[in-house]
Amino acid sequence: MSKQYRIAVIPGDGTGPEVIREGVKVLNAAAQRFQFKLDYINYDLGGARYLRTGETCPDSVLAELRKFDAIYLGAIGHPDVKPGILEKGILLALRFALDQYINLRPVKLFPGVDCPLKYKGPEEIDYVVVRENTGGLYTGTGGISMKGSAHEVAIQNMVYSRFQVERCLRYAFNYARRRNKRKTLALSGKTNVLTYVFDLWERAFNEMGEKEFKDIKREYYHVDATCMWMVKNPEWFDVIVTENLFGDIITDLGAMTQGGMGIAAGGNINPEGVSMFEPIGGSAPKYTGMNVINPLAAICAGGMMLGELGENAAAQAVEQAVMNVTAHKVKNLGAGKMGYSTTQVGDLVAKGVAG
Ligand code: IPM
Ligand code: MN
Repeated sequence: MSKQYRIAVIPGDGTGPEVIREGVKVLNAAAQRFQFKLDYINYDLGGARYLRTGETCPDSVLAELRKFDAIYLGAIGHPDVKPGILEKGILLALRFALDQYINLRPVKLFPGVDCPLKYKGPEEIDYVVVRENTGGLYTGTGGISMKGSAHEVAIQNMVYSRFQVERCLRYAFNYARRRNKRKTLALSGKTNVLTYVFDLWERAFNEMGEKEFKDIKREYYHVDATCMWMVKNPEWFDVIVTENLFGDIITDLGAMTQGGMGIAAGGNINPEGVSMFEPIGGSAPKYTGMNVINPLAAICAGGMMLGELGENAAAQAVEQAVMNVTAHKVKNLGAGKMGYSTTQVGDLVAKGVAG
């Protein structure tokens, strides 16, 4: 009997539904070729629902989402909703509630894609960032006192437990081992200033590496220097592990070096639970409904989802099909500049996957 997976689909806001539609098209082509089944159930979450009902992610929906094999998310963000409400109420709420403690973000330049880094090509830009996804400044305590007065004080703490740090590091070490490229794990931190939090990260990193991962080479870079080397010598990197906000920031830089938000995908992973896959760009409201947005990031996120479900051959076929499309057809990845519509790009990849 063929395997069957239940996927919760959250198309979300703006161009989310358009890119997810193409992603589903490609996933279906992969399912047919590699003989597994995908059952989708759509969930209406996002700005439109919030404006209609005042709800972000109701408990009843969350309870249902826990029962899926994976979640496939388009984009969350609406121009008429104050910043923070949807991000905290939906995207971050799901990451935290489902304990998706890893945010896996490959930085890979596909053939044919225009890269802003002179002299760098697909050979040089191919690494993965493991971003801690449920701690640090995102869940640390804080507050504002004497708000509105000249003496107001705002505090937001970077908080990490040894447990959070270790489980993230263990995932990253194992990932570097599985990836088997250069077997190198780089910790990106700020040990020269954040002498508490990164003292913990660095000690845990070295202790774990020494004890459990002798086969993995360890490197350390300050986060600012990491940005510098991501531009100057991206070929140095294999797997980078870092805390939540640093990971958020450096992966936007990484995304630009791989051709931009049109192609950058990520997975919010709970290795023991329900993971969620998304293009890392936003909802691009100004392109909504125009059929010009690039669906490749969403398609790549779908490919990552297949890999996480254990359908490795299918995941590879999706990536290969995307690479063929960038190598031979879609060179400019910008919205409206692809030379193809959103639908046509989806069709091209789906055709490649079908074989
Ligand atoms: C990302 C986004 C989110 C984050 C925002 C929208 C909350 O920037 O997925 O990188 O900061 O994690
Ligand atoms: Mn971000």
